[in-house]
Parts: sequence; structure tokens; C-alpha cells
Amino acid sequence: MGTAKAPILLSSRPSFCNIGPQFIAPKSGARRAFPSRPLTQMETGGLDSDGRTFKNAEEMWREEVGDGDPQKKFQWYNKGINYWQGVEATVDGVLGGYGHVNTPDIKASEDFLNTILAERFPDAGRGRHLVTLDCGSGIGRITKNLLIRYFNEVDLLEPVSHFLESARVNLAPENLMVSELHKAANFYCVPLQEFTPDAERYDVIWVQWCIGHLADDDFIAFFKRAKVGLKPGGLFVLKENIARTGFVLDKEDKSITRSDSYFKELFKQCGLHIYKMKDQKEFPDELFAVKMYALTTEMPWQGNRSRPKRATNRPAIIR
Ligand SMILES: C[S@@+](CC[C@H](N)C(=O)[O-])C[C@H]1O[C@@H](n2cnc3c(N)ncnc32)[C@H](O)[C@@H]1O
Repeated sequence: MGTAKAPILLSSRPSFCNIGPQFIAPKSGARRAFPSRPLTQMETGGLDSDGRTFKNAEEMWREEVGDGDPQKKFQWYNKGINYWQGVEATVDGVLGGYGHVNTPDIKASEDFLNTILAERFPDAGRGRHLVTLDCGSGIGRITKNLLIRYFNEVDLLEPVSHFLESARVNLAPENLMVSELHKAANFYCVPLQEFTPDAERYDVIWVQWCIGHLADDDFIAFFKRAKVGLKPGGLFVLKENIARTGFVLDKEDKSITRSDSYFKELFKQCGLHIYKMKDQKEFPDELFAVKMYALTTEMPWQGNRSRPKRATNRPAIIR
């Protein structure tokens, strides 16, 4: 199973069944501006699922999405969607046969979310109408097990319609064990690279196990657009598989697993700052490492370093 999907290695893939494209090809004349130079200067090499090596990310992207060729990029995204269209709408399906990591995944995410809410919002956000967006939500696994308990409204974004339909059922009020003050509000059947959120709607935008489907330029463009969707003080949580170095391209589902330094380079280009990060624990050893990043648009407070040093040996007003 692939690298953007769940926490997975390249063996143990679910069987692949292509049930037809879902994307609409870009209209002719609507050519997307595509940089002739790479947006990221990732000099570290990487490899693909056949064991082929690339000397850097630029070489890989040029081959995979082309150099300004919208058709090639369309094929990249189309193949990713086709892969997921052939996967059953179950927890085991969206986790690539590793359904049993659901419990440690949710537990670690809940700890991380609790810390963030407590630090960012008065009274940990209780008394505030909390709204979140679950990106690449699949069947609503994270929403159902975690987000809906903390947020009053959860919007789900998922480009594969049979997953989103399953999420609708899983999150119908009669199938939820939460008060009526908590609900799944909107279901968007679009891919991240085509989505722009409403301004200042979200306290948290949760992006887990789907960003590997986005090419670097669309990754950067998505986060830049999505910033507008954050309320003041809001933040992104990105939870992803991490390559040891460089990147690993999964040729079957068209996704890449990036290294921590690759992500950090992209965050910089998005104008995002790491507020907090944490490693996922208690996953099987054969899986990729997984990290959680909380990302803000504002610079995190730098402790003493960002405050002008005040001399203590002279009179000063008590504030
Ligand atoms: C490994 S599953 C993870 C689902 C969910 N985040 C979870 O953890 O249960 C990857 C999800 O990414 C979705 N996906 C694929 N391409 C995408 C894109 N371009 N934009 C948003 N989501 C995408 C897939 O349809 C699938 O639901």
C-alpha cells in the first residue's frame, strides 16, 4: 500500500481496481500557470516504489507532472483518485490493511489536539464555537473517532465520492454518540488542489495522510489559500508519513512520502511556522515514521530571544 495513504510500506497493498476517472480534465485555454523552475530546491535524492533513484525532487517532478504540461499533471491526480476508487470504504481500506493502527493513531492525535487547544484558546476552547476541516477525510474515520467530540462543526473534504458517501452515513446524527451541539456540517467532494475555504471559518484545519498526493506547487498553493480559512489564532495540523531522507515516490497511487526536512522547506515557502511537533508512537516497526506538525501563520513566541532585554538594575514602571 502506498505512501500518502495510511502508515504503510510498499508491500501489503490492497488489490487495485480502476473504476474510472473522476476528475474533470482542465478545459483547454485554462492552462494553469506552472513554474518552469521548481518551487522547492530539494537537493536530496529520492527513490520510487520500483527502487529507482532520482538525484533530486526536481528530476522526479519533471518526469511525473511535467514542466508546464497540464495533461501530465491531470494524469498524476487522476491516477491517485483512481487508486482510491478501487478501495473499499472501511477503516481497514483507508488504512491500507492496517486498521489496527486506528487506536494508537487516534490516541496520539487526541493528546496532540488537547495540548494545542489548551495552549491556544482560553479554557481549551470550551465556550467557543469550534469548527474544523478534515482534509482527505476518507470515510470520516478521524472525524468520527476524534474531531466531532471536540468541534461543534466538522466539514469534510474528500474527492472520492464513495468514501464521502460512507462518511455521510457514518456521521449521520443517529450514528453518533455526541450531543446535538456537535455535527458534521459540510461534505465537499473536491481534491485539496481545487479547494478554497470560506474566510475565517476554521479553528483547526486537519490534514492527515493525504498531502502526499499533492505536487509541491499545489501543496504550497493549497496552504496559502487555506490560511484565509483560519480564524485568528487558528492553525493547521498536518499528520504524515516521513521518509528517512529525501522522498519516496509511490508509482501506483501517485503520491510521495517526504522527509522532515522536505516538509520544513515547504512550510517555509507556505509562510507557515511550526508551533509544535510530535512523533507518533506505538506503530508497527515496518511502517514509516509518522509526525504531527501544528502550523501557524504567525511566528511562534521565541521566549527571551524575541523580547528586548530589559535591564533589571534600573528603575522601570510596574505594568
Ligand atoms: C490513507 S487515506 C486517509 C483517509 C483519512 N485521512 C484517514 O486518515 O482515515 C488517503 C485519502 O486521501 C484522499 N485523497 C487522494 N487524493 C487526494 C487529493 N488530491 N486531495 C484530497 N484528498 C485526496 C483519498 O481519497 C483518501 O481518502
